[in-house]
Amino acid sequence: MTAAPPPPLGLLAELTHRCPLRCPYCSNPTELSRASAELDAATWGRVFREAAALGVLQLHLSGGEPAARRDLPEIVAHAAAAGLYSNLITSGVLLDAERLSTLTKAGLDHVQLSVQDAEETSADRIGGMRGGHARKLRFAEHVHAAGLPLTLNAVVHRQNLDRLPDLIELALTLGAARLEIAHVQYYGWALRNRDALLPSRVQLDAATQTVTAARAAHQGRLVIDYVVPDYHAKRPKACMGGWGRSFIAVSPAGRALPCHAAGSLPGFDFPDVRNASLAEIWNHSEAFQRFRGTGWMPEPCRGCDRREQDWGGCRCQAFALTGDAASTDPACALSPHHHLLDLAVQEAAVAGTDFIYREMKRPSIAEA
Ligand code: SF4
Ligand code: FES
Repeated sequence: MTAAPPPPLGLLAELTHRCPLRCPYCSNPTELSRASAELDAATWGRVFREAAALGVLQLHLSGGEPAARRDLPEIVAHAAAAGLYSNLITSGVLLDAERLSTLTKAGLDHVQLSVQDAEETSADRIGGMRGGHARKLRFAEHVHAAGLPLTLNAVVHRQNLDRLPDLIELALTLGAARLEIAHVQYYGWALRNRDALLPSRVQLDAATQTVTAARAAHQGRLVIDYVVPDYHAKRPKACMGGWGRSFIAVSPAGRALPCHAAGSLPGFDFPDVRNASLAEIWNHSEAFQRFRGTGWMPEPCRGCDRREQDWGGCRCQAFALTGDAASTDPACALSPHHHLLDLAVQEAAVAGTDFIYREMKRPSIAEA
């Protein structure tokens, strides 16, 4: 009998797939859950209590856009009652000062605000929402006025990476304590737009220099998180800190997943939090055990001295690029499929800049 794994540190609660933005790199699955299938606030409350009992410390309230749910204050209150540190991951476009005040009173601890670019016209084009960037800036002012800690999240790619210095300046102007510079991860919707999003090596090298200089210049004022993107890396990242090792995601309809994108992997029966406790799911479900640890690994991972550092990379990326979720992540130069990444970079270098946008009913502020 295998020993019980250490408890997860974080729970990602995907409250809804609804979102007023249409980012071409959206990390939601290509098949979205309907609003009528979403877990209700009371069930989320039960899940939060189970998470806290299991050892989870941090709760990330995400989507889609979590503020598309009218009952978000009730959900936040459940998180506070469970003793979890709550982080609202939001686009900010549905939240005004009054709604934020309701969330603060309910016990919200932290806000993570996404921006699409530092330049308004480009930001609105990438997010697919006219006026969206201006709303985000107003929301950041409300967060600052409310005294909540703010992290700015900037997803970067070929069409905004050259404005990285401006994004860093924006984070400072908005009073963010942390800036996450996140390169697009290419699965789901982002894979469809890969040719329009992949940065060049030249862009990437300039960005790395910018980050190095900014970290030194703003030490003590702004923490900058930055990781070299997979398509230009020689070794993969430990995606989610390893499958089923430190993280649980729960989809809007209640499926428990080892990562937010795993729902699109075939051949899995992901457990439903309505039928099983988080502890049962974490400790005993086949889905969480399938790629946990190193026993599942093929060569070259099996004999590699990095296997307990990167845990073989990302299962979703392995599936997206090779059709086999159990293969070595092609981001690794030792993978027999590594050439696929070089090929994609070459193709993107001569591709256009048009995006394929997803369409879905947009929640309005009034509806939210
Ligand atoms: Fe990581 Fe596997 Fe590559 Fe080794 S061979 S660096 S374990 S992905
Ligand atoms: Fe699913 Fe990396 S995104 S394992």
